[in-house]
Amino acid sequence: MTRLTLRRPDDWHLHLRDGAMLRAVLPETAAHFARAIIMPNLVPPVVRHDDAIAYKSRIDAAMPEGASFQPLMTLYLTEDSDPNDVAAAAASGLVHAVKLYPAGATTNSASGVRNFDKVRPVLDKMAEIGLPLCVHGEVVDDDIDIFDREAVFIDRILDPIRRATPGLRVVMEHITTSDAVAYAEAQDDTLAATITTHHLVINRNHILAGGIRPHYYCLPVAKRESHRLALRAAATSGQARFFLGTDSAPHTDANKLLPCGCAGCFTAPNTMSILAHVFEEDGALDKLEAFTSLNGPAFYRLPVNDSTIELIRHDTPVSYPEAIPTEDGPVTVFDPGFPLHWAVAPQEGSD
Ligand code: DOR
Ligand code: ZN
Repeated sequence: MTRLTLRRPDDWHLHLRDGAMLRAVLPETAAHFARAIIMPNLVPPVVRHDDAIAYKSRIDAAMPEGASFQPLMTLYLTEDSDPNDVAAAAASGLVHAVKLYPAGATTNSASGVRNFDKVRPVLDKMAEIGLPLCVHGEVVDDDIDIFDREAVFIDRILDPIRRATPGLRVVMEHITTSDAVAYAEAQDDTLAATITTHHLVINRNHILAGGIRPHYYCLPVAKRESHRLALRAAATSGQARFFLGTDSAPHTDANKLLPCGCAGCFTAPNTMSILAHVFEEDGALDKLEAFTSLNGPAFYRLPVNDSTIELIRHDTPVSYPEAIPTEDGPVTVFDPGFPLHWAVAPQEGSD
């Protein structure tokens, strides 16, 4: 097959940042995707309905001309979040999820949750109104090995929260382990999981073997190969509970290449090419549309997109820029480490 038409995909986990970075990265996602769940981990974070209204208007102001891209806003859960403010933000149609960061788990998570009892009223309200909770599922305890933090989170935090809040709709974000796949597969339809592009193609050797490669460092950190294979099987299975959330997380090279560099892979430009490669390699091109364009809207109770994109398989490899320029410096584009043959066809009206 050399051409594949898909309903236009959505990205159910995306970092757009703000200011110069927002202006530089937004066109990359808007070129291929119709909608994205926009992460709220700015400094200061997007906590209240008013913060989301203001951030949405900054995104709209940065929108490239002619783009038809809809940011789906989220709120950052803090111990001071107000259930009524969250409910009003959802009722207005602006906010589609609330993001739970355990305090200290990742980039800009200092305002996240330490004491989960304190967010109980918000979670109860969310269960009542059906608003999804997007969960960064890692414990932060120093005594828990970083490669075990996701699995421990499921047992110690996620499962107890779900049992204590019946009906709460949860998305396990950017899952990285076979433990998370197994947990997700065993639950009812109040639970879903996003999978990133990069976790389908790298394992921890890519980060650490033969030299340290900061551009492959993200959180949750990539795990051993058996976990990557479990993620591949889940993503390509077509099961409704698994869908794409790229977690495309731009940082300038200057910030990635520090002695204590930032976590994040910037996959927005070549995500669709990489995914087509992965699904083709696994004999599952017929499941790609479910992963990128159907399962996410079903969970978020939104219509699927009417428009389509076309992917073309080229005989010679397609190339992407090594980095995109921003006013703050270059941002390296994720390198999958193999040649890419699939590319999104240019759309009518674009150059
Ligand atoms: O790698 C990551 N980068 N993981 C996260 O959870 C946050 C993200 C970011 O904001 O840079
Ligand atoms: Zn993220």
